[in-house]
Amino acid sequence: MKSSKMLKVVSLVSASILSMGILAGCGSSSKKVSTDAVNNSSEVLTDKGSNQAQSDNVIVMGTNAEFEPFEYRDGLEITGFDVEIAKKIAEKLGKELVIEDMAFDTLIMALNSDKVDFIAAGMTATDERKTQVDFSDSYFKSQQMIIVKADDTTITTADDLAGKKVGVQLGTTGDLFVSTTEEIAEVAQFQAGTQAVMDLKNGKIDAVVIDAEPAKKMTEGQSDLKLLDAPFIEEEYAIAVKKGNDEILAAINETLAAIKADGTYDEIYAKYFDVAQ
Ligand code: ARG
Repeated sequence: MKSSKMLKVVSLVSASILSMGILAGCGSSSKKVSTDAVNNSSEVLTDKGSNQAQSDNVIVMGTNAEFEPFEYRDGLEITGFDVEIAKKIAEKLGKELVIEDMAFDTLIMALNSDKVDFIAAGMTATDERKTQVDFSDSYFKSQQMIIVKADDTTITTADDLAGKKVGVQLGTTGDLFVSTTEEIAEVAQFQAGTQAVMDLKNGKIDAVVIDAEPAKKMTEGQSDLKLLDAPFIEEEYAIAVKKGNDEILAAINETLAAIKADGTYDEIYAKYFDVAQ
């Protein structure tokens, strides 16, 4: 990847996330945006629309449990790295943790309408999102990566996505990159990264752009898929709270600092990831 292009990409990510919905419609004039994938989604969205965030005894985490190892379903249970961190935050506040699973692109709306108290969803703290929510200190470093078919010889870096049909999870930074990179022919938006990978396997799209750790999970043991060793956007995950909710933000930052200091963070980390970061 040429660095000049990448610099542009990074600033796009930080500059444009707020207007992503609008951008999908008019950001890049020539790109075909396929939303079939989203409309025909078999995804079960379990946003109950409740107002649990108001209750005294519980604290509600908003997430999208389609992002292993950060949040995913293990049977009926939602588990993962973010869930374990969230449990520590709830503990610190002396409250019970309730998890609301919903489409990723509705999380900020749910937060700002008090349906959830915070978002823990492998969410990248972009400058645009910072205009809508307050972010905690960062708790994880990530990158965007590319998945292609194992026998693909045409794509080895992000530059090679030019002219291709690329799948993403709707409303993510990967979506923003693909939707705003004019050279990319088509973006196929899905409610879940796994659905994008399914279409890749079926030959309906040429590549999937998604965060590094979920990309590793999705390609593990899949002999027909290949994860390119060409990460191309650096990002940092943080927990989001409603703007001005300083009390909960302080509790979150204190919890993050405490679990980093006493080794709990490393313990949780070792459960879900290979190498310490
Ligand atoms: N880090 C990316 C973003 O913030 C993707 C996050 C997707 N998370 C999820 N739980 N599905 O846009």
